[in-house]
Amino acid sequence: MTTPVLETVGLVHTFDDGRRGLDHVSISFLPGTFNILAGANGSGKTLFLRHLVGLTVPTEGTILLNGAPANKNWNLARQQMGFLFQDADAQILEATVLEDALFGPRHQGIPHEKAEKIAKESLALCGLDHREEDLTSLLSGGEKRRLNLAGVLTLGASILLLDEPFNGLDQPGVEAFLRILIDLQRQGRTIVLVTHDLEKCLAHSSSLTLWHEGRILATGSPDQVWDEIPRAGVHRPCVGRENWKELTWLPR
Ligand SMILES: Nc1ncnc2c1ncn2[C@@H]1O[C@H](COP(=O)(O)OP(=O)(O)O)[C@@H](O)[C@H]1O
Ligand SMILES: [Mg+2]
Repeated sequence: MTTPVLETVGLVHTFDDGRRGLDHVSISFLPGTFNILAGANGSGKTLFLRHLVGLTVPTEGTILLNGAPANKNWNLARQQMGFLFQDADAQILEATVLEDALFGPRHQGIPHEKAEKIAKESLALCGLDHREEDLTSLLSGGEKRRLNLAGVLTLGASILLLDEPFNGLDQPGVEAFLRILIDLQRQGRTIVLVTHDLEKCLAHSSSLTLWHEGRILATGSPDQVWDEIPRAGVHRPCVGRENWKELTWLPR
């Protein structure tokens, strides 16, 4: 049996007021899969992603990375996981596109020439090679998203955690971002994507996990969990269950 690349076992997060942000969340992601997490606002998706990268400490439960507890070495774990925050601007740290992509490699102490090679390769992968010298403030919403992704890729992440990356993007923006994700998955990376927009990307998913009040309501292939989608407070696309593979914003 394939070992999951990432797994949580009985993850609980209790807030100071006693409310549970996460209530015994057990889920696993297989290597090279494209996993969608969907649920109403406040159902705990962002909190869950924060736990995966150790930004928040669980009240109970374990996070396993390639079968080993992630908390044994968070530095190593964070190198394997790249996190795109919901707010694209919050993750842009430098004035120009190339400088921003250089931020990670520089802070890892990689010599300049090599750092620049890594940054340029990541920018090219994200379709930003022609914008290297441009000011980050001049980028479109979609380009900012792709710059966030390039930054994460410079660190060599094999698992990508993406928090509502399509928010505010137009059709070309969603299309460009989706193409890159699919390419990255083909190269073997594991995608964990939080989104409400099933119409935009469900066709590409290996699994759909539905969240409700800090719990997993259902997880499985889209057709397996189809009936539960409305109960999670997520819009169910107006197609038959058997047609979920039509749900993409990539042109046909
Ligand atoms: N410090 C806190 N005390 C109590 N509840 C909190 C605190 N911080 C966040 N929450 C609650 O945790 C829940 C999960 O939030 P979040 O993970 O951001 O949801 P999602 O990303 O699914 O929209 C929300 O209901 C939020 O109000
Ligand atoms: Mg959120």
